[in-house]
Amino acid sequence: MSTIAVLGAGKIGESLLSGLINAGYSPEDLLFTERYQQRADELSERYGVRGADLPDAVRRADVLVVSVKPQDIEALLDETAEIVTPDKLVVTLCAGLPTSMFERRFAAGTPVVRVMPNTPMLVGEAMSAVSGGSHATESHLELVERMLGSVGRVVRVPENQQDAVTALSGSGPAYFFYLVEAMIDAGILLGLPRAVAAELVVQSAVGSAAMLREGEGHPVIMREGVTSPAGTTISGVRELEKHGVRAALIDAVEAAHSRSVELGAKHRQDPGESD
Ligand SMILES: NC(=O)c1ccc[n+]([C@@H]2O[C@H](COP(=O)([O-])OP(=O)(O)OC[C@H]3O[C@@H](n4cnc5c(N)ncnc54)[C@H](OP(=O)(O)O)[C@@H]3O)[C@@H](O)[C@H]2O)c1
Repeated sequence: MSTIAVLGAGKIGESLLSGLINAGYSPEDLLFTERYQQRADELSERYGVRGADLPDAVRRADVLVVSVKPQDIEALLDETAEIVTPDKLVVTLCAGLPTSMFERRFAAGTPVVRVMPNTPMLVGEAMSAVSGGSHATESHLELVERMLGSVGRVVRVPENQQDAVTALSGSGPAYFFYLVEAMIDAGILLGLPRAVAAELVVQSAVGSAAMLREGEGHPVIMREGVTSPAGTTISGVRELEKHGVRAALIDAVEAAHSRSVELGAKHRQDPGESD
């Protein structure tokens, strides 16, 4: 069993720690770093996992999960660049930062795996996409897939698809929340109390998601199943089409992709570097 250190146990880092413990990882095999002692004490109490300072965590762990905000990455790299050795596996959860950036800063040959998770990791239902850098082997990728499998589902993609992943599943929960919010407003417009409208919409979302995951059918077939001739649903669907909701969603994902490419550009060494 490898020792895993979560460097930056904020929202995503804490969700990962919690998921690993729920999945049977021993707190003895986990470490985390946090800047504030009070936060570190809270986490230790909640999960029985030890906090460590950054150099100590790097030395003691085999797997280093980098989960600080991108704006804090330079400080973290400055503090760790000299002590990360190629026998460690670096797993970065930082949105938009290419594996090449870590490879340039750490000792030659250090394996790096990039992951794009999403916030449902907080409830053990993350969608994560993993990509290996130049020195990551099949067994490194498998280790990361097992680790992230404890907090949701995992797919493997080439690194040059990570901007598309960011746009679709990284930002995706925000689009679903937006849709739910709008439908709750519609319920209120029709005179339903907010709590009732929220219950109706959220449970419909949960039920639909379960059908999508468990059912054999395509989303179109499932939608057709509730769209009877001259019925209520088709009247609603016509309005969605009239307002271009399908095109708006496609445009939204495309815009998020462009922004991800733009944000990532400053971390690539030269413009030709794909990721
Ligand atoms: N949240 C998302 O939806 C999401 C989705 C995909 C990917 N990600 C990626 O996940 C990463 C973490 O995001 P998050 O939302 O979990 O952020 P967060 O809640 O701000 O967590 C980052 C944590 O790292 C700590 N930290 C910063 N610098 C540190 C250092 N040098 N040593 C030790 N701890 C340090 C921060 O402490 P302080 O509180 O003191 O600043 C904070 O607790 C980001 O890179 C983000 O791109 C997030």
